[in-house]
Amino acid sequence: MSVAKKEYKRITTKSLVEMKSNGEKISMLTAYDYSMAKIVDGAGIDAILVGDSASNVMAGHETTLPITLDQMIYHAASVVRAVERSLVVVDLPFGSYQSDPKEALRSAIRIMKESGAHAVKLEGGKEIKDSIKRILHAGIPVMGHLGLTPQSIYKFGTYTVRAKEEEEAEKLKSDALMLQKIGCFAVVLEKVPAKLAKEVAQSLSIPVIGIGAGNGVDGQVLVVHDMLGMTHEFHPRFLRRYLDLYSEMTRAFENYHQDVKTGDFPSEKEQY
Ligand code: KIV
Repeated sequence: MSVAKKEYKRITTKSLVEMKSNGEKISMLTAYDYSMAKIVDGAGIDAILVGDSASNVMAGHETTLPITLDQMIYHAASVVRAVERSLVVVDLPFGSYQSDPKEALRSAIRIMKESGAHAVKLEGGKEIKDSIKRILHAGIPVMGHLGLTPQSIYKFGTYTVRAKEEEEAEKLKSDALMLQKIGCFAVVLEKVPAKLAKEVAQSLSIPVIGIGAGNGVDGQVLVVHDMLGMTHEFHPRFLRRYLDLYSEMTRAFENYHQDVKTGDFPSEKEQY
């Protein structure tokens, strides 16, 4: 089905909801720094997620748990400085919202005030309903995140597909409805069966953005390092690689190394 696309000068949370109702798919990528965000934004990607996956791909941690609120704000502010069009959504990191709604609100306010981002994302359903409501009441847009929620990796034990069993699928569906009802503008579904994700997307009026959730949802998000092929040891089934930057960069670094060692770089033209 071909869809006439509306031109957006600046993407807002409302634009994403409008895209869903117009049948236009939403593109989202992560970014954590100024230079990458400038390219992602310039390429016309609708939304940028300053994900807590920065803990993995930027800082080299095994999980997303160690990254701090201060570190997320640093990444988010760098991204915001680069962006002219995309909507910038920032993850509330582990430990910054789980203990009580007041703490959640304080963390969300710090992100919005100190980075200039446009929205926050929190992992979880009913367990964090009061925190999400508190943030929404302060006028801060919230994106939900259900399915595989990496901040709970030690509860799950593995990064395998979630909600394959009926009970977990039912909870996910009711959490998604609840997130819409209290006022979230979108929900990320991570690593869940495509059939379930499609059903959830069809039951909601707010957009469902999938990662490893199939093609029946309203948009897709990928970690930028993964889709560029920089994390070459990471190859889940859902990932499409658009470049092999690991090999390209390795070749460039080897060539530079060689040119420096042989004295080929810099040439006469490359000096003053
Ligand atoms: O942190 C992140 O990059 C995310 C995406 C995987 C959705 O939450």
